[in-house]
Amino acid sequence: MPTRDQLLALNDELRRLKAGGQRAVAVTEESLAQLRESVAASGSEAVASAAPAPVAVPIMTFSTESRNEPAPRVPAPSAPSLPAPPPINLPEGDKPARWNHLRELVLHDSVCRARVFAGKQVVFGVGNLDAAVMFVGEAPGGDEEDQGEPFVGRAGQLLNRMIKAMGLERSQVYIGNILNWRPEMGTRNADGSQTGNRPPTAAEMSYCLPFIRAQIAIIQPKVLVALGKTAVDGLLGADRFKTMGAARGTWHSYADKPLRASYHPSYLLRQEGLTSASAKKIKRDAWEDLLAVMERAELPVTEKQRNYFR
Ligand code: URA
Repeated sequence: MPTRDQLLALNDELRRLKAGGQRAVAVTEESLAQLRESVAASGSEAVASAAPAPVAVPIMTFSTESRNEPAPRVPAPSAPSLPAPPPINLPEGDKPARWNHLRELVLHDSVCRARVFAGKQVVFGVGNLDAAVMFVGEAPGGDEEDQGEPFVGRAGQLLNRMIKAMGLERSQVYIGNILNWRPEMGTRNADGSQTGNRPPTAAEMSYCLPFIRAQIAIIQPKVLVALGKTAVDGLLGADRFKTMGAARGTWHSYADKPLRASYHPSYLLRQEGLTSASAKKIKRDAWEDLLAVMERAELPVTEKQRNYFR
C-alpha cells in the first residue's frame, strides 16, 4: 500500500498536471485498487470509482491531515509579463569568479525576483564547479524556495540516494534547474507558502535557459542529466519527444555536452513500494540511465552496481 509520503507526492503530481491543463490520467486496475485501499485506510475521500484497466481517471486530489488544514489565502503577487532573457557577459577569471558573478546576476535579476513571494528565494544551482556530472531539474518547489537550493525536499532526498548509488556524494556533482523560481499557482497562503506545483511554461523556461546554459559553460561537466520531461523539453525542445520513454535510453547533446534524459525523482518516488512490472521497469530503467551516465563520465562502475537489477 502506498505510504503517506507517496500519497503526498502523488497529490502534488496530480495538482501539477491539472494546473498544466491535463484533465485525466491513465491508471491501471492494480494501482487504482491500491489507491482505494490506502485512501480507505486513511479515512479520506476516495479518488475514483472502479473501471477496467487501464482507465482514465479524472484528476482529483485527495487530502491528508496536513493538506486538509484550511489556510487563509491572499492573492499572489501579480507578475509582469516576461521580457527577453538578459544578455550574460561572464567576466574573465577562474570558475569560482565566473560562477559567483553569474549567481549574483541571477539572484538579483529583477524578473526572477518579481516572481518570488516575500520571504521566499530565487534558486540558483549548487555543487562542485569541477563536477563531471550535472543534473538539471525542472523548477524549485516549496522546500527549495524556502532554502534557496535546488532539490532539498523529498525529491532531493531521493536524488541524493541516487547520487550515492552512483558512488558519489552530492558535493561531487552539480545540480541546477531549468527555472530559477517556483512557478506561481496564482494564490498564496497568508504565510507566503503555496499549495501545489505546476510545470514552468515555455516562456518561463526560455527566460531562464541562458542561466542554466551559462552554468554549463562554467562547469564544463562531462555529462548532463535532464531529470524529467520538462527538463528534456526545456533543453532539447518541446516538440522533440512525445514521452519520457521516447527521450531516454540514448544520448542527446545540449550546449556541446552529452545529455542523458532520465525520470524525475518525483516520478520515481511514486514508484517506491510498488511491485507492479511497470513500476519495476521504471526503476530499472532509471538505474540503467545512471549507469550509462557513469560510463560516459568515466566514473568507476563496480560489478555490484552493474548487476543491481539483475
Ligand atoms: N524538483 C525539481 O525539478 N527541482 C527542484 O529543485 C526540486 C524539485
